[in-house]
Amino acid sequence: MNIWAIANQKGGVGKTTTTITLGGFMAAAGEQTLLIDLDPHCSLSTYLGIDTDKDERSAYTLFKQVADGDEPQTHSQIANTRFDNLHVLPASTAMATLDRQLGSRAGMGTVIARSLEGLDMEYQNVLIDCPPMLGILMVNALAASERLIIPVQTEFLALKGLDRMLRTLEMIQHACKRQLQHVIVPTMYDRRTRASIDTLKVLQERYTGTLWESVIPVDTQFREASQAGVPLSINMPRSHGALAYEALLNTLQKTTGEALNMAVAS
Ligand SMILES: Nc1ncnc2c1ncn2[C@@H]1O[C@H](COP(=O)(O)OP(=O)(O)O)[C@@H](O)[C@H]1O
Ligand SMILES: [Mg+2]
Repeated sequence: MNIWAIANQKGGVGKTTTTITLGGFMAAAGEQTLLIDLDPHCSLSTYLGIDTDKDERSAYTLFKQVADGDEPQTHSQIANTRFDNLHVLPASTAMATLDRQLGSRAGMGTVIARSLEGLDMEYQNVLIDCPPMLGILMVNALAASERLIIPVQTEFLALKGLDRMLRTLEMIQHACKRQLQHVIVPTMYDRRTRASIDTLKVLQERYTGTLWESVIPVDTQFREASQAGVPLSINMPRSHGALAYEALLNTLQKTTGEALNMAVAS
């Protein structure tokens, strides 16, 4: 089971789009894929047709179960989507209160890791869409994952967000005493704009070794796909945007462990 987190403390950089587009390709290839929505905004769940006001299934329940001293009952919280092989563990707006409610209790950092134990035979892939803030949910995502994908919008303000995310990663790695391999993915690249070109240059200078060698271009089809509630990789796999994500997935699947950093550096 591959468990990957998609995180950046800045909003609107393409986290949810990355999660759903990569997940769509995996599912279309016949791989059982679980998408976990850990953002209290519930964008991924809504994208996949879950009415988070009415549906009672959510990752929030798993946190409550563990806090009550029970084993997390993951299966009953997972919903099928209308796409073959694609499943979702939805978010709920109540997750915004988790830090205040349960943040200080012991064991709260590994709820998601524990919830995924025993699902090895069922899912080949688990992708975790993270909230844009540091807290118990982000800690859970990083503690459960073996790889971190950091989408970075190619515009200047995004560089600050990236530094913040990398500091968070350092801190959590230190606290969990484990290394988490990460890859930085430039998103919404528009080669007609100075901002995109210059930001990509800065990324290439500063982050050699962890920067993906290519970019995800701006493609208006992403917004339309999200309005239609369909992963772009499923309804328009040959669009520019989807093809770029397919290339990213190929790179990620070819490379594991240390090899990734070498592959993206070359
Ligand atoms: N490569 C892209 N080209 C054009 N629009 C994009 C692209 N990636 C994402 N978007 C759009 O930008 C908005 C923010 O993306 P989203 O994935 O929701 O970001 P995040 O999850 O980081 O907040 C959405 O409306 C999405 O459809
Ligand atoms: Mg999002």
